[in-house]
Amino acid sequence: MGMEDCVRPIDIIMKKRNGNTHTQEEIVYLIQQYTEGRIPDYQMAAWLMAAFLNGLDEEETYFLTHAMLHSGKIIDLSCIEKPKIDKHSTGGVGDKISLILAPAVASCGIAVPMTSGRGLGFSGGTLDKLESIPGYRTRLTEKEFVSILGKVGFVMSGQTDDIAPADKKLYALRDVTGTVENIAFITSSILSKKLAEGAEAVVMDVKFGSGAFMKAKAEALCLAETLLRVAGKLGKNLICVLTSMDQPLGNAVGNRLEVIESIECLNGEKIPDLVEITCTLGGYMLIAGKKAGTLSEGKELIEEKLKNGEAFERFVDSVRSQGGDVGFVEHPEKFERARFSRPIHSTKNGFINKIHTENIGTAAVYLGAGRFSKDDEIDPAAGIIVHKKLGSTVRKGEKLLTLYYNKESHVDEAALLAGSSYTIGEDRGHDFQLMHEVIG
Ligand code: URA
Repeated sequence: MGMEDCVRPIDIIMKKRNGNTHTQEEIVYLIQQYTEGRIPDYQMAAWLMAAFLNGLDEEETYFLTHAMLHSGKIIDLSCIEKPKIDKHSTGGVGDKISLILAPAVASCGIAVPMTSGRGLGFSGGTLDKLESIPGYRTRLTEKEFVSILGKVGFVMSGQTDDIAPADKKLYALRDVTGTVENIAFITSSILSKKLAEGAEAVVMDVKFGSGAFMKAKAEALCLAETLLRVAGKLGKNLICVLTSMDQPLGNAVGNRLEVIESIECLNGEKIPDLVEITCTLGGYMLIAGKKAGTLSEGKELIEEKLKNGEAFERFVDSVRSQGGDVGFVEHPEKFERARFSRPIHSTKNGFINKIHTENIGTAAVYLGAGRFSKDDEIDPAAGIIVHKKLGSTVRKGEKLLTLYYNKESHVDEAALLAGSSYTIGEDRGHDFQLMHEVIG
């Protein structure tokens, strides 16, 4: 008699609700049945909330990751001779780094097989950003994935029905059920995708701060350690770089606005935090792929690819290969912009001391850049431009942010949230530090 003959989903939900620990069999059953559509969303959502509140220990996290990884296929990249190294972020606001980093690293002779996610809660997702380029396809078959990787040097795809399909379903459900910020869920979600795509090593950008899922650095360290230990048990080499998400990355938040900013950076524009984080993560990827001996050598190589246009050319190749209209990438002024805009002004003179970055992310979701329910459609043009970052001076009446939108239905909520996201003080406050520990 199989597990499905004697256990009901409700028994597993109640076991976690009552604070007990799952066996591997139970987790495998839950994930298999949910992936195959035999457990409905409402029961899975109940289990997610029970596990969110009562926790999954590290062994359960490993079982969950293993079950999610094996819900689909593991891509065989043995036909690609280059080192295969990927990067993934735990999620942030204005985090468009993958769009800049993947082509820059690919230009240095590394193959970057990247499976990404959609927006999750207040944080943006690489797939939604890429799909704001007309025609761009993120749903690729395995054959296309491997062929584009071989031809262009990097590929950016969502999970197909074959690659970690359990995460695809769970990710969308977590997004709308308040079950995102959990170490076990984040670990299993990231690793199931990353292990399925066949990379030899992954550089993880583990974020903490007001615009990350882990607000405190100690929580981010705990996430990094869990990621490292679970990946280790599954035979994957990870490097975790802790970075601060106490302010949006770059100046653009929202899908198309972020693509445009990425294109600027790929064309050599020095947007300081984007360049710093891209060069550091890229440097570690080059070390992992034995293309650089030291971090400073790796960083220089990446910076050079941004300056000399090679990274941009790779990006154009990739857009072409994935069905996107390169005319927009070569002439970003052609992108359709939002019809409306609303500036948010400072109400006093002073220095920017704090930014409630999650509120800026949520405001962007209100404007249409993300989803409140699973079937919500994204408005690619919606988003926010950030005019003031930590430490800058501001005068009363100066613009802090500009909101861009097509639908006016939630703009007041967005303006309220965005408007309350700045703390302005009389002195400069603490210096902002973007890059933190590296473990792995
Ligand atoms: N990125 C993912 O892929 N999954 C998460 O749960 C969070 C960030």
